[in-house]
Amino acid sequence: MEQKGLFARKALADFGVADGNRAPVAKVLGPVSITALGIGAIIGAGIFVLTGTAAALYAGPALTLSFVLAAIACALVAFCYAELATLLPVQGSTYTYTYAAMGELVAWTIGWDLILEYSMGVAAVACGWSAYLNELLKPAGLDAPPEFLAATGTAIVRADGSAGVATGNLPAALIVLAITLLLILGTRESVRLNNVMVGIKLTVVLAFVLVGAGYVDTANWVPYIPPNSGTFGQFGVSGILHGASVVFFAYIGFDAVSNCAQEARRPQRDMPVGILGSLSIATVLYIAVAAVLTGVVPYTKLNVADPVLEGAQAIGLGWLSLLVEVGALLGLTTVILVLLYGQSRILAMMAVDGLLPGVFARVHPRFGTPWISQAIIGLGVAAVAFTTPLDTLGELVGAGTLFAFILVCVAVIRLRRSEPDTPRPFRVPHVPLMPVLGMLACLGLLAGLSLFTWVRLAAWIVLGLAVYALYGRRHSRLRRPDGGAA
Ligand code: ALA
Repeated sequence: MEQKGLFARKALADFGVADGNRAPVAKVLGPVSITALGIGAIIGAGIFVLTGTAAALYAGPALTLSFVLAAIACALVAFCYAELATLLPVQGSTYTYTYAAMGELVAWTIGWDLILEYSMGVAAVACGWSAYLNELLKPAGLDAPPEFLAATGTAIVRADGSAGVATGNLPAALIVLAITLLLILGTRESVRLNNVMVGIKLTVVLAFVLVGAGYVDTANWVPYIPPNSGTFGQFGVSGILHGASVVFFAYIGFDAVSNCAQEARRPQRDMPVGILGSLSIATVLYIAVAAVLTGVVPYTKLNVADPVLEGAQAIGLGWLSLLVEVGALLGLTTVILVLLYGQSRILAMMAVDGLLPGVFARVHPRFGTPWISQAIIGLGVAAVAFTTPLDTLGELVGAGTLFAFILVCVAVIRLRRSEPDTPRPFRVPHVPLMPVLGMLACLGLLAGLSLFTWVRLAAWIVLGLAVYALYGRRHSRLRRPDGGAA
């Protein structure tokens, strides 16, 4: 009985009823806004921060191939997301799909795991935002004191050369709180601002590619694949693979599009457009940026926190450098916005199912947003961004996301078997081959991450299971005697 409860699946028909009755969010999103949300979530710290390290330490000019490999893995998974988002156009993304396909315990585990992708991802990106803002303000003498630019307790050196420790990363916490407030005030307003920022971000990335292409020195691309250093993952073919695991972070976010299915006007048509469209646009831009960047700056000089700015400075046009700084700042802002938005929708869905307290699902009568959930997330993430050193968090965010991606591929196969007759407005071709290839590709990228990251992911999941045992198992709607019908 207990076993049956833990693995009981939610019927597809229940999703509409539960969600429609309890979380009446406004249907305001069309295909352009959905694609812009995707690009908003995708293009950020991955390209503006991580690209340089990946080229300098792992892949060299063959970083373009790392981007291609990571894109292939993501494309296989994106097809699965597109099918599931049209089959179940409700909140909750991966959490919802696994609930239908594999039951409550797996769904809870994934919902918990997604906190790594969304909330910890936001905290990491907010720290990048803080650094870029400071760079932008420095020439005007408006940069913040070092005490307020790093995680609590980090060793710092003040302008007068004296040593000290940081109080916390104030700009990182403030941007999280500001975007949280915006998201509480309304999805439509947030989406409008997102569209504008995404437009500027795309213009900046395109300007860098088009202007930079004229300054490429092809000698910088030779050797295209630098010889392996003797250590696995440092150049050579293994370096390309390791580079793919690192730049995978840059693609995270196309899956966040699936969170807005319930707020889409025509999810059957617009979710596949948004998911596959945003991933395609990001892929083309990433490969182009990687090619231009390694063409204008020797890859050995790219191990810096702001590699695209380094590239713009090498080109030598002041206006382009300024544009890149502004574009990066806005780019990181939209990632924070879309991931915070997605996190609140996932937690709201978990609350609808009784696995979290009901306040997480409460929708504001005037703003039409899950405001309490959004506020709790904002405060929690701001605290993490203020206090925690996040340099190694990128890998953990990647690991958590890959774990979720694997389960999405499994969900497509299982639901094709268990619910063969439910209409699927979008179908993954060649099932089970494509989802299986997606799983293998994600496992390959996971293998490129460190053992330490695996251990921390496992610890996070064990903690989540303890929370489930103490709360979710006792309050689950599905496990009530009436099966959650009440
Ligand atoms: N893909 C997002 C970024 O690169 C998470 O910032």
